[in-house]
Amino acid sequence: MCGIVGYLGDGNAYNVLIGGLHRLEYRGYDSAGIALVDKKGKLNVYKTMGKVSVLENFCKDKNVDSHIGIAHTRWATHGEPSDCNAHPHYSEDGNLALVHNGTIENYKVLKDALVEHGCTFHSETDTEVLVQLIEYVRLQNDCSLLDAVREALKQVIGAYAIAVIEKNNPDCIIAARKSSPLVVGVGDDEFYLASDASPFVEFTDNVVYLKEEEIALIRRHEPLKLYSLDNKENEIDVKKLEMSISQLEKGGYPHFMLKEIFEQPATLLDCIRGRVVDHGRIVTLNGVSDNRDTFINARRIVIVACGTSWHSALIGKYLIQDMCHIPVEVEYASEFRYSHPVLTPDDIVIAISQSGETADTLAAIKIARKMGAFVYGISNVVGSSIPRETHSGTYIHVGPEIGVASTKAFTGQVMVLTLLAMTIGELKKTLSPEDVAKLGNWILKLPSLVEKVLSLAPEIERLSLIYTYARNFLYLGRGYSYPVALEGALKLKEISYIHAEGYPAAEMKHGPIALIDAEMPSVIIAPKDHLYEKIVSNVQQVKARGGSIIAVVTEGDETIRNIADHVLEVPDVPECLTPIITSVPLQLLSYYIAINKGKDVDMPRNLAKSVTVE
Ligand code: M6R
Repeated sequence: MCGIVGYLGDGNAYNVLIGGLHRLEYRGYDSAGIALVDKKGKLNVYKTMGKVSVLENFCKDKNVDSHIGIAHTRWATHGEPSDCNAHPHYSEDGNLALVHNGTIENYKVLKDALVEHGCTFHSETDTEVLVQLIEYVRLQNDCSLLDAVREALKQVIGAYAIAVIEKNNPDCIIAARKSSPLVVGVGDDEFYLASDASPFVEFTDNVVYLKEEEIALIRRHEPLKLYSLDNKENEIDVKKLEMSISQLEKGGYPHFMLKEIFEQPATLLDCIRGRVVDHGRIVTLNGVSDNRDTFINARRIVIVACGTSWHSALIGKYLIQDMCHIPVEVEYASEFRYSHPVLTPDDIVIAISQSGETADTLAAIKIARKMGAFVYGISNVVGSSIPRETHSGTYIHVGPEIGVASTKAFTGQVMVLTLLAMTIGELKKTLSPEDVAKLGNWILKLPSLVEKVLSLAPEIERLSLIYTYARNFLYLGRGYSYPVALEGALKLKEISYIHAEGYPAAEMKHGPIALIDAEMPSVIIAPKDHLYEKIVSNVQQVKARGGSIIAVVTEGDETIRNIADHVLEVPDVPECLTPIITSVPLQLLSYYIAINKGKDVDMPRNLAKSVTVE
């Protein structure tokens, strides 16, 4: 949440910062702002409520000439979205400007102390407290900005990624992080700074990911220096970035979400590349086989995640229990962390997160590690916090997901969970080599089968017109299709703002069936699996009460076609692979309904892509 960009070099800082903010807008878009020091040593801070384009317009007639600057796009935590609460915030004497991602939990105590020392505040944010505190420390101790930042951060409880610039020293940026990501791009005698590497991918592929409680000293024409909070100089580990600019552009699609939905055949292929080989006969996840004994001897697996990742975790439960006969529990990371979890060293905790930065999931990982469990991460963003905090893990390799509504990351996560279950199953011998080969072969066919599902897009677009103005939806499924129902409902909610509930279809008769009437459409996920006969009864129960039905069915299903109002036919695949096939039409349905309603599908209201606060 919140995106930070910084630049120091001989180039035009404003252009780099505005371009970078556009790339980071997925992290929050309540307001945006920029701070630059011009050649005469004047600190110019421009900020506006709304998206980056509003800021860009606002800056059109402003002095933006600078070689140094910091910028921010906000997802509000403390104080409503407004010009005043927008970042950068600056010290009362106008010497420092600061941008911040995270929350300062003890900001009230710090603020009261600063007020006693005569500081006045203009915004409601915790960030303004931090910048005033740093300047107060600097003035009191007559010290450098680096020392002032370090001393101030020692007083802070909470999470932060910050970048600070000083009017009186326009050749230096100080950056620091704790629990919120920050990465430095090292160019040719110039530096970039950002919440992730996307803002500077076209300028450099040399990156340094800041570690927990690490401070970066970035100076003009000087090498980068890193320090710990207790002022020890840290080693610099420059990594090569594996990201291309085309992955960050819409590539002819009107929205990132649609592009990402249509990318799924390719992203699934990337996800399985090198992991399913020899015509499917060999299926391996290195993270699992490298920890063979741990997985073979696991007493229990607990999966922690949030949102869409929690839905893929539920599918993971079915996969692992089916294929490996290990009991699996799935927990919301936010509940797990406060539930006094009981874990032992022979438990495995799997943390799933697209961004690799979700605060609740990170906190759950820390608890699990403390309790001695082996922690395995499944993430998309290379170099993000979760892969660094876990003992081992797997990247889903689906490329940057920019649309706030997760699509290709969901299918990538489910794919990795399938490979994980197969690898464990083969190690434990709960799956025979023949079982693996058969399923492995199907997995190789999956990208082209998803391609086939995508050809339903025009049909789904037409169908969406009928349901655009429905006020509520039910999504129903059983077994593997139950988490798919939850995910379908979440997709609709978050981008079209239509109330939608996902339910296990059999639970319907225990309450939700009371909601069914002609105004309440049900989306029923009913592939031909071992629960097919059961779900046919559920379809009939909905129809008998006058509800309209959109059913996702296996090709050639005449039974449900004769009952439902609309059917979307998908290819027949083994039961454990149905979630990847059946979730795609639901992604398209929610996309088209949201478009019909004129909603901003890539940046839905109130949401942000990366949830780095509690
Ligand atoms: O990055 P993560 O997978 O940890 O994010 C978890 C959720 O915030 C995320 O899946 C959210 O629910 C998406 N907006 C769903 O589309």
